[in-house]
Amino acid sequence: MQNELDKINNNGWNVSKKIWNKLDDYERSYLIFELSNNKSKQVYRKRLDALRFKDKKKILDAGCGFGQWSIILSEKNKIVYGIDTLKRRIDIAKTLKKQNKASNCFFTVGNMEKTRFKKNYFDLIFCNGSIWFTNCESTLNEFKRVLKRNGRIYFSFANFGWYLKLLIKDGIIKKNSINFRKSIEFIFRFLQKKKSRVFLTKKFIERLLPNQLEILDYDFEGKIGLTEKVNISFYESRFLFFPSMNEILLRKKS
Ligand SMILES: C[S@@+](CC[C@H](N)C(=O)[O-])C[C@H]1O[C@@H](n2cnc3c(N)ncnc32)[C@H](O)[C@@H]1O
Repeated sequence: MQNELDKINNNGWNVSKKIWNKLDDYERSYLIFELSNNKSKQVYRKRLDALRFKDKKKILDAGCGFGQWSIILSEKNKIVYGIDTLKRRIDIAKTLKKQNKASNCFFTVGNMEKTRFKKNYFDLIFCNGSIWFTNCESTLNEFKRVLKRNGRIYFSFANFGWYLKLLIKDGIIKKNSINFRKSIEFIFRFLQKKKSRVFLTKKFIERLLPNQLEILDYDFEGKIGLTEKVNISFYESRFLFFPSMNEILLRKKS
């Protein structure tokens, strides 16, 4: 496992042994997946540049997890607020902030379905892989409330290929019992048609969309951009021909 920590730190992330030792196996495997191998800081930067998320005054990273996206977002934007319901992740994010000298990042425990921010506050809401854990209708309404006019909302979510990969490649072939259990849980949720869903079709989002929000783009991951199509994929784009991730860009009409 120490070797895995070295890989993360060789990627430019400063994760101390103290943080590492606090994590359980699931959180460690999540951190390894998000920060090691091909996920260097430079790859994160490229991805955000492609999405043109820079020069914003205030950004909300909703469901920020360990805050790694907030930290990179803070390099080219003025202030980034990261919120997550899990205190243990926010604690880690605060430590990562210090170690990565991201003084314009602020992390707090919070629920994206109902936040404490003022209305019309943010220029951009960034929500990577988190919205599908929430009641999407409440979250979209809250995002609309705290977003400035003409502001943007970005969110990404897993598609069927993601769950298949988790089940077959990670769960069965690599015998990773955590991923096996998670994939079964997700596939079960996928089959339940609840408002907090694991796959958000364009139709589903259109149905929930508050009237001031409009969809600018909805596509497979790596294909959307603020003003033109870009083609930088962050995750493996397909598994067994099934797309892995989707992303969407919304705008609050002025
Ligand atoms: C798959 S992780 C993604 C984390 C991070 N955005 C990333 O890209 O690494 C989803 C995160 O959403 C958080 N989350 C789930 N429901 C939430 C809610 N209602 N409000 C805020 N965060 C939430 C979870 O605690 C978790 O850290």
